[in-house]
Amino acid sequence: MENIACKHCGSMTDNIKKIILADSCVSDLVQGERILKPFYEIISVSSIFELFEALKNMTPDIILLNLTMGGDVINRLKEDARLQDVPVIFLTALGNASSQAESFGLGAADCVTKPFLPPLLLKRIEKELLFAQQTKELVESKAKLDSLFKSMETMVGEKVAEVVQMQNAVLATVTDLVEFRDKHTGGHIVRTQLYIKELVKGMFRRGVYSETISGWDVNALLASSQLHDVGKIAISDNILCKPGKLTEGEFENMKDHVSAGVEAIKRILDNTSNPALLAHALAIAGTHHEKWDGTGYPSGLKGEQIPLEGRIMAIADVYDALITTRSYKESLTHEEAAWIIESGSGTQFDPLLIGVFKDVKKEFAVIAARQR
Ligand code: C2E
Ligand code: SIN
Ligand code: SIN
Ligand code: FE
Repeated sequence: MENIACKHCGSMTDNIKKIILADSCVSDLVQGERILKPFYEIISVSSIFELFEALKNMTPDIILLNLTMGGDVINRLKEDARLQDVPVIFLTALGNASSQAESFGLGAADCVTKPFLPPLLLKRIEKELLFAQQTKELVESKAKLDSLFKSMETMVGEKVAEVVQMQNAVLATVTDLVEFRDKHTGGHIVRTQLYIKELVKGMFRRGVYSETISGWDVNALLASSQLHDVGKIAISDNILCKPGKLTEGEFENMKDHVSAGVEAIKRILDNTSNPALLAHALAIAGTHHEKWDGTGYPSGLKGEQIPLEGRIMAIADVYDALITTRSYKESLTHEEAAWIIESGSGTQFDPLLIGVFKDVKKEFAVIAARQR
């Protein structure tokens, strides 16, 4: 044992372990002291009162306690954070099994019989001290690991926040590019997010498709909506920015912005560490030009075949196209735009959602006025 060796070399006196020997039988105290003194610092006490007086001033490495002084002592030790881990070895006069069982039942670390056999007593103490030391080291290294994990978690958390922020920045840049080329849609993407937010809030209030939308992460929906026209990147300038009406052929070409958008988003999803952020992006980009009566593009989906995100996006998208100036059209007033949208109930748009639109269209007007 290290502590014993140190005692012998005399240089590391701080490492001498302290033992309290508590027994009401004075001859046992004397005998125990004689055995332990060469190796340990011994404090002998002959009552529970003396024991706790001694404990006020020091924390022993081990307590040897006469079994008859009882389990109450262990309970009192357990209540004290400073003392609760001090191992207690019970001393029993009889070497019988029942008093050993009683000792362990009371929470003792070990139990030795009197009269003491010096080598046995020393061995038991040595074993208990080693065990206590190992336990302490284990607790310490676990605490170190815990704090290491904590700081790693913090770092990972920061990293994730950084990545999300970066992905948002990339999204914003991509959408800026689209807006930059499609000059007349300035602010369209920001406003469209705000319209969608109003529609979703209105849906909650009215209880429209609330089962579906209560499963959504609305922020992910809004982030995803930014990409609805990302496929316009693939459309040539002379069509995208044409000052007048598109020919039929040009419009066919224009429709390709939907499939181009779906392709682009699939690629982003393949390369993203946070696909949840774009959970709704494919549905929105792929179906925002579908119409309730099945006459839309690219797939001619009808009614509830059209994903709900696409049906919501369609209202926000068309409203904003109507109230703003485009290369091919002048801006309409809020009242004119609202009238056109409401007239599309059941043909272009989902009638339940048009009900919601009527609830929240005042908010649309505010957003349109503020953001134009
Ligand atoms: P956008 O300008 O963002 O328009 C989005 C949607 O708003 C249109 O989808 C359409 O459903 C609706 N919309 C826009 N202006 C009007 C309007 O004056 N009246 C009505 N009732 N609805 C309107 P759509 O038609 O599928 O067009 C998709 C995109 O194709 C448009 O996006 C725009 O970039 C382009 N586009 C459509 N028509 C023309 C055109 O005549 N000339 C040019 N240069 N581009 C056009
Ligand atoms: C929401 O903001 O999520 C809906 C709350 C509402 O009922 O207005
Ligand atoms: C989607 O909802 O995943 C897009 C499908 C489509 O292009 O219609
Ligand atoms: Fe579009």
